[in-house]
Amino acid sequence: MGANGGQFGRLHEGKIVTVGTRSLEGVPDARETAYIAAMSRAKIVSAYAQWGTTSEAEDFAIDRYLPDDARVLDLGCGAGRMVDVFGDRFGSYSGVDGSPEMIAAARSKHPACEFEVADIAGLTIAPASVDAVLLMHNVIDSLCPFARRGIVLEMARASLSPRGILVCSSHLLHSGMSSGYIVEDYHGVEVSNYRSTASEFCAEVEKAGFNVVFLMKDKRGSQADWMYIVGTPRS
Ligand SMILES: C[S@@+](CC[C@H](N)C(=O)[O-])C[C@H]1O[C@@H](n2cnc3c(N)ncnc32)[C@H](O)[C@@H]1O
Repeated sequence: MGANGGQFGRLHEGKIVTVGTRSLEGVPDARETAYIAAMSRAKIVSAYAQWGTTSEAEDFAIDRYLPDDARVLDLGCGAGRMVDVFGDRFGSYSGVDGSPEMIAAARSKHPACEFEVADIAGLTIAPASVDAVLLMHNVIDSLCPFARRGIVLEMARASLSPRGILVCSSHLLHSGMSSGYIVEDYHGVEVSNYRSTASEFCAEVEKAGFNVVFLMKDKRGSQADWMYIVGTPRS
């Protein structure tokens, strides 16, 4: 819990997000549905709820780039890890996740925050109403089919104020792999994650209307398994 004891304002009078209409290409396929089911298992929800720490790349991105008093929208917020660690830095906060179990865990820890169960690719957010969009811990890589990544990045771009930032991470290729969706073991369940090169990921973010102003590899064990970027809206 942040130093302010969870006394966050709300981003808007009512809900900050409403569930909009998805285009046909924006509908999640079975791989993404299976991913959310895997993330909703009790032992995974419990692990995320208790995690409470961040990586060097996450710390650097937030410490260096988060605007003062930022209105924060956390997409794929899980059990509210960002509020656990950085809550006292946020002016206001809203988290959205497709897993009701994750949102229940987040609400129980942070009852004063706004949390919604929704598909992050089907939101309607007022233009320029947010100062930071977070897509932490590779949320974007579970979006499937590929077109959903662009839908979310473009929505993030449109929702950001001129001083706003996008913080987003994505899995990197290991040697011998080609870019694409790769089925991997996640604590005993197979999940599909998108992996690409650092330059491909930066190009994807830039295509959605951002300048990439920061990138840093994040590690799992000794391996650089994913990278964080900070993007600022290109005018
Ligand atoms: C690896 S967890 C990261 C959680 C959190 N961002 C963190 O850093 O602790 C990915 C989260 O993204 C959520 N997620 C994946 N696809 C989603 C979608 N289309 N809409 C909403 N949430 C989604 C999952 O339910 C899961 O909680």
